Amino acid sequence: MKIFIDTAKLDEIKEACSWGIVDGVTTNPSLIKKAVDALRERGENIDISSYIEEICKTVGKGHPVSLEVISLTAERMFDEAITLYEKFNPIAENVVIKIPINTYTPGCSHTNYEGLKTIKKLSEKGIPVNCTLIMTPEQALLAAKAGAKYASPFAGRVDDYIRKNLGIKFKKGDYFNFELMEEIRYQMLEEEIEEYVEDEEGIGYIYQQEEVARRAELGKDNGISSGVDLVAKVARIYSTYGIKTEIIASSIRNARQVREVAEVGAHIATIPFSVIEEMLGHPKTEEGINLFTQDVVPEYRKIFEEK
Ligand code: E4P
Repeated sequence: MKIFIDTAKLDEIKEACSWGIVDGVTTNPSLIKKAVDALRERGENIDISSYIEEICKTVGKGHPVSLEVISLTAERMFDEAITLYEKFNPIAENVVIKIPINTYTPGCSHTNYEGLKTIKKLSEKGIPVNCTLIMTPEQALLAAKAGAKYASPFAGRVDDYIRKNLGIKFKKGDYFNFELMEEIRYQMLEEEIEEYVEDEEGIGYIYQQEEVARRAELGKDNGISSGVDLVAKVARIYSTYGIKTEIIASSIRNARQVREVAEVGAHIATIPFSVIEEMLGHPKTEEGINLFTQDVVPEYRKIFEEK
């Protein structure tokens, strides 16, 4: 699985690139805001164009940098995509344009097709698109059909949505234990069903009971039981039909989630700097390095001192 770094902070990008683990970068308007705020706090001048040029240069050719449009209509998103591509792609030929799957906003009563229209137009022009804000496998299928080179299912935000709907309190980096949730759901369903089984009701009758259906769907978002499950389902659909669009598991919140999206076949995970750091840690690694350091005998140390 490839690793992209999910940040617009140049110092984080430079640092992670120096470790040799970065295959690409993803940004979005919120990440650009965080980077700009950090520069402002340090009293630094902000020339956003040179800043983005520097990101593209640092990551280098062959390592995609996703830059997102900011408008909501197909016409304007297309124009913005062209602006971003013409301005920044010549630097290292690595720019990918991020387009939302749709630009529905609260207040509109229905979805819209602006995202799909833009993906189609850009892809036909040979401009690579990363389709963003994907929360369902259906959206991922449509993004791929429209021509997106990358599709970004938002694993963390789906976990947030499910947990919020269940009234679970959580912090941003908290792991969502969907296997535990699965166990609980199963137990609750079994308890509910038991009564009907004792009364010897038929399976069709049990299936139609509202409470049974409610319990079966508890903690799921229309059949999706977690962000990792979302990524897994997208991966299964793409591989079943030989779809070439690459999955960027996005909105990653902790190291265990990285492991799980890798297990279910994400091609790429885009990971915040802090989560990459978290991926490195284990108490036994820390203990081990302390022991090895203490155990160095003078005879062995001498080899290094003789140089
Ligand atoms: C990356 O492409 C996404 O924009 C990003 O992963 C979103 O992450 P968040 O849900 O933590 O904001």
